Amino acid sequence: MAKIIDGKKISQEIKDELKEKAASLQAQGKTGALAVIQVGEDPASSVYVRNKKNACAYIGIDSLAYELPEETTEEELLRLVAELNEKEQVKGILVQLPLPAHICEDKVIQAISPKKDVDGFHPQSVGAMTIGEPGFLSCTPAGIIQLLKRSQVEIEGKHCVVIGRSNIVGKPMALLMLRENATVTIAHSRTRNLAELCKQADILIVAIGKPRFIGAEYVKEGAVVIDVGIHRNENNKLCGDVRFEEVEPIASAITPVPGGVGPMTIAMLMSNCVQSIEEG
Ligand code: GUN
Repeated sequence: MAKIIDGKKISQEIKDELKEKAASLQAQGKTGALAVIQVGEDPASSVYVRNKKNACAYIGIDSLAYELPEETTEEELLRLVAELNEKEQVKGILVQLPLPAHICEDKVIQAISPKKDVDGFHPQSVGAMTIGEPGFLSCTPAGIIQLLKRSQVEIEGKHCVVIGRSNIVGKPMALLMLRENATVTIAHSRTRNLAELCKQADILIVAIGKPRFIGAEYVKEGAVVIDVGIHRNENNKLCGDVRFEEVEPIASAITPVPGGVGPMTIAMLMSNCVQSIEEG
């Protein structure tokens, strides 16, 4: 029987710590707002954006919402980002992804000042993380490190297999585990003998983006399994990349979906916002 890693509880602890920190910063006259930009009305994005605004309200930091129509041009969006870069009170800028196809996401990410890049997506933030310099960490991978540490999972010296190589999760995840002195293997959809490789992992981090793809044959007895996937099944119920009921009896610890990695992303976004306010 695995220990269930409770992301809801751990994220709540982090948000409560941040709430205290934000109040003490405010007492020193340090305040600031998170600007959240959404282009179009993708329903999943609308839920994420609402959750981010609610988290700001809970922590006690201001949020500014920019809800732009689907037809917004790249130039208009870049102009807004440039304006927000200059606004003293705005300490964080978040452009919700995905953007409509006519807007180049990389161009928009690169337009955000690295000082306000609370998503940690700017190449300067990624570069700083890679060489261990200070900067904003990508929220989902940073949240997974917190989940592991706060669940007393030892990372140093362990073999960690990360399945997935996206810029948002897989790549930064592998780098952060390396920074914690794990031995890291990055696997992906073209990896040969994926199950055999995964079975060597002490810590298996699954961000493959395929519903219920990882079953018992991928998991070593006693491994720690982190499921980054979030999907809706045919009954509209949430599920991850891992077949939870099949893997849970083998693992020593596992994250559920929902209530595992998901809530940690927003907690770490709030952590980056508070850090930005602190740094002024
Ligand atoms: N879309 C899905 N996840 C994220 C995220 O972490 N940040 C932003 N900006 N957009 C997203």
